[in-house]
Amino acid sequence: MNQELINEIRQKSDIVDVIGERIPLVARGKNYFGVCPFHDDTNPSMSVSREKQIYTCFSCHATGNVFTFLMNYEHKEFQEVVKELADRAGIEVQGLKQKRVSTKYDEWYQAYDLAMKYYQNNLMSSKGKKAREYLEKRSINYDIIKEFELGFSLDEKDQLTKFLTGKNYSIDLLNKAGLTNEFHDIFHNRLMFPLHDLTGHVVGFSGRLIVKSDQNKYLNTKETEIFKKGNLLYHYHIAKQESRKEKYVIIMEGFMDIIRASTIGVKSTVATMGTALTKDHIGSIKRLSNNIILCFDGDEAGKKATMAAGTLFEEANIEVKVISLPEEDDPDTFILNHEKESFYNLIENAIYFSDYKIKALQKDVNMNSSEEKADYINKVLLETAKIKDPIRVEIILKDLAKNYEISYNTLEKSFRTVQEAQQIKKEKVVMPSQIVTPKVTLDKYQKASLIIFYYMLEKTWVIDMVSKSKIVFPKEEYRALASAIESFYQKNGFINQADFYTYLGNNEKLLQIFSQMEALTLKDEITEKEMREYFKVLDQYRVEKTIQQLKKKLKEEVDPLEKAKIVEQIRQVRIGEEK
Ligand code: CTP
Ligand code: MN
Repeated sequence: MNQELINEIRQKSDIVDVIGERIPLVARGKNYFGVCPFHDDTNPSMSVSREKQIYTCFSCHATGNVFTFLMNYEHKEFQEVVKELADRAGIEVQGLKQKRVSTKYDEWYQAYDLAMKYYQNNLMSSKGKKAREYLEKRSINYDIIKEFELGFSLDEKDQLTKFLTGKNYSIDLLNKAGLTNEFHDIFHNRLMFPLHDLTGHVVGFSGRLIVKSDQNKYLNTKETEIFKKGNLLYHYHIAKQESRKEKYVIIMEGFMDIIRASTIGVKSTVATMGTALTKDHIGSIKRLSNNIILCFDGDEAGKKATMAAGTLFEEANIEVKVISLPEEDDPDTFILNHEKESFYNLIENAIYFSDYKIKALQKDVNMNSSEEKADYINKVLLETAKIKDPIRVEIILKDLAKNYEISYNTLEKSFRTVQEAQQIKKEKVVMPSQIVTPKVTLDKYQKASLIIFYYMLEKTWVIDMVSKSKIVFPKEEYRALASAIESFYQKNGFINQADFYTYLGNNEKLLQIFSQMEALTLKDEITEKEMREYFKVLDQYRVEKTIQQLKKKLKEEVDPLEKAKIVEQIRQVRIGEEK
């Protein structure tokens, strides 16, 4: 689909209407304001401009156009959002499926796909009888086998290797992709689970023993250029679709848990590859849903993992919920041994991580020791101070007052003290009474740069001015942004902020610059003379930078003649500055 059509769809999808259909907006001056859905907002800090067709949050710096809003708000891909808005605007679009770009890993993907089919074939052949029996014993029926593309690796040393080299894959490639080890297969006699990357390519396998053995229960493909446990999540490519229908995404520990949950229609689920959750994982998961639920094994290890994962989310400013299973269960066994409604109930009644922690703290308190009780209450207050919802805070404090027979007033006073101490620690957490006013601290060079960017998007003559000038922007991202603006303009012959956002895609670094720029609230018109002033500021930056570099060179230089030359150069640059 071409850029012009995309721009047309954007123009016919008024951003105030589209956002207004989802969150309440109030008009204020030229702009509209609403509570920002992209962070834990309490006062309206998102501004939406009808004129510019963009939104900006002054608190969390989310910014973009109507496409990026929907992508982030509804967790959708660009293509889908464009299609939906086209339908909404009554614009016919065809061939929306973007041409698949070929990558240098296409051959790897194909090899993995073939390997998967090879394993699947084994499972259904006479050699797969034992594995099929194992699956049957675990109540995994044919439909599930198909759905999860399960397979079986044979007890032979090089069947897969022969099969793939027979299809003309070089042994080098197979080794590098972790499919083979020299001329030998990696997996033997194991139930095979294909592992998909976040977009759905098979990029590895996990193989499970089907008999008791002293070998590892699960064996995974080695880490390769495209298989990284730190960012891969089992079942993510399916959860991406399913999380749109459901009001949640559930994180579990094991493959079997995910597979079992799927049998009762709980498919918006992901699991790590037997490793701890990473920041990368969190970044991927938070795009799926605002309601993230941890459902780990009921044993000690599972509880520990819950604590670790919940804390990691907390650090990312996301409060997750928790399902606690009975000590002896994992999601797999729980679902097997209960009516499916019981599991749905667990989902429905998942508790906030902070409540979970408070409950966990309570477990070891010796009710006869005033010291332990006080210690416990202080810990609870510390946890409670992290909760933003005042209603939940009050509920917890009231419970605490009741259960420990302390007056609510005393408790509340202590709570305020703890809360204030934490707020000071978190540095200025301002709670403005009304619409949030932006606060940006920029040095003069940064400010001048942002002002120049702002007008580059408004007035094409400013772009020309920049192209012809010698100015150097003071940051790498700024330089990237300037050249992106120039190339957009060269390509299209026009520029506006909203279409430029489409062009930038989801480049958060560059978009962040825009939110700071919006926060400056600049006037609409500017004269060339005024513009020159800002260029001068940046010119000063260039001069200072050059002098700095020359001075460094001067320090390192030993030859007196060369030294004199550098001193002269510095003088020249200084004169240039004064002109
Ligand atoms: N795991 C692993 N290597 C092991 C054991 C476990 O990589 N030796 C990983 C697997 O990803 C597994 C997850 O840790 O799915 C959870 O382990 P576990 O609870 O033991 O596995 P289950 O999924 O419960 O598998 P099963 O029910 O078949 O024992
Ligand atoms: Mn398990």
